Amino acid sequence: MKFSIITLEIKQELINVVGDNYCFTEKNRLEDYCHDETEDLNFPPEIVVKPANTNEVSAIMKLASKYNIPVTPCGARTGLSGGALCVHGGIALSMERFNKIIQIDEDNLQVVTQSAVITQELQEVVQEKGLYYAPDPSSRGTCFIGGNIAENAGGPRAVKYGVTKDFVLNLEVVLPNGEVIETGANTLKNSTGYNLTQLMVGSEGTLGIVTQATLKLIPCPKHNMLMLVPFTSAEKACEAVASIFKAGITPSAMEFMERDAIQWTMDFTKESPVKLKDNEQAHLLIEVDGNDTEVLFKECEVIASVVEELDCGEIMFAETEAQKDALWFLRRRVGEAVKATSIYKEEDTVVPRYNLPKLLKEVKSIGAKYGFKSICYGHAGDGNLHINIIKGDMTDDAWNNELSKGIRELFELTVELGGTLSGEHGIGYVQKHYMDIAFSDVELNLMKGIKNIFDPKGILNPGKIFA
Ligand code: LAC
Ligand code: ZN
Repeated sequence: MKFSIITLEIKQELINVVGDNYCFTEKNRLEDYCHDETEDLNFPPEIVVKPANTNEVSAIMKLASKYNIPVTPCGARTGLSGGALCVHGGIALSMERFNKIIQIDEDNLQVVTQSAVITQELQEVVQEKGLYYAPDPSSRGTCFIGGNIAENAGGPRAVKYGVTKDFVLNLEVVLPNGEVIETGANTLKNSTGYNLTQLMVGSEGTLGIVTQATLKLIPCPKHNMLMLVPFTSAEKACEAVASIFKAGITPSAMEFMERDAIQWTMDFTKESPVKLKDNEQAHLLIEVDGNDTEVLFKECEVIASVVEELDCGEIMFAETEAQKDALWFLRRRVGEAVKATSIYKEEDTVVPRYNLPKLLKEVKSIGAKYGFKSICYGHAGDGNLHINIIKGDMTDDAWNNELSKGIRELFELTVELGGTLSGEHGIGYVQKHYMDIAFSDVELNLMKGIKNIFDPKGILNPGKIFA
């Protein structure tokens, strides 16, 4: 793909759209836009442009289209698959000024929001009105709704309430040629034509730029209970997951953490909400929620009886809100702790949940074969296992040249088990070479055809999803 560079004339045209203050090329100011949270990858844009409204995004895309300039949309840059990396330079189109919640519709339980609102902020604002927006990625304190839509983010509560796609009703989108569309309607049901809304969700900023979203809300559950269950075998912990659902319980969160995930995070955060016993290899963090505490107690009893049959250790019930917060704080910081502690690569595998024990066991054998240690954690209730591959003692040669074969085996295993490459982080830049494992040529060509219809010049977020 041959793109043009940004001449002084083109820069001036961009300045004419957004104003002097919102367009820059100085090296030190570009730094923040060279990376997201994916490993240590770094790709500088030529220019950062920060539009204030949909018309400005449209004008920028028209210019990019006219001059054949690559555009990488970016939000909070918290992504883990390199979706916001400017791998072809060009324009980093930062959406950060789209930070307003436009309307909370308490009659229809919906919220209309711009795309750069911080997820947790949106959650808190609707919660004040007794409403709940459930998608809850670990980065919720910094990530943007638009990024969540781009990656179809999930998080712990997805197991009961669904992922981002289940909450998106309608989107305003700027197409690569600058045209502005609305993808659907603000309705809960919609059988009208192809589902452009759901096509946009999870398209990783490659088909269009989301400027505004109408999201579904639900009544906020009034109570929750949280328990931490230790196991002497990580596989047994994984086995417990499907058994709990089979016993008729749908927890509002069902998180898995290997021993090292907990230990590394406690070392990193210098907080120790868990007293790890020597023989404990993994924990399940299980939450139930609802409006009736008696029902929740009964659900906890059922869960306790299931895990006890699988040789769990002493169950810890969080008794205060502070204890709950401490456990969630620990769980949400695992990714950050691993990143801060070691060179690593992260794979976001997902399998049908009953196959989770097999996945974990085989991950360890593949690790033994290629000489890597892995720290595994994730949303066990969804069968979504974050496998953090640790460089440890691996030689640079093995890390740089052999590891990709091991990762290929990991993904082949996931697909054999009925799963796929990514549950919630996306394919982006780092997983694109493995797409052939999950899809045939026919399937991949359909996807490329869709990309081509939206973006015939290939200027929007090039270098992502497809090898
Ligand atoms: C988490 C992020 C890494 O589950 O998805 O913490
Ligand atoms: Zn996750």
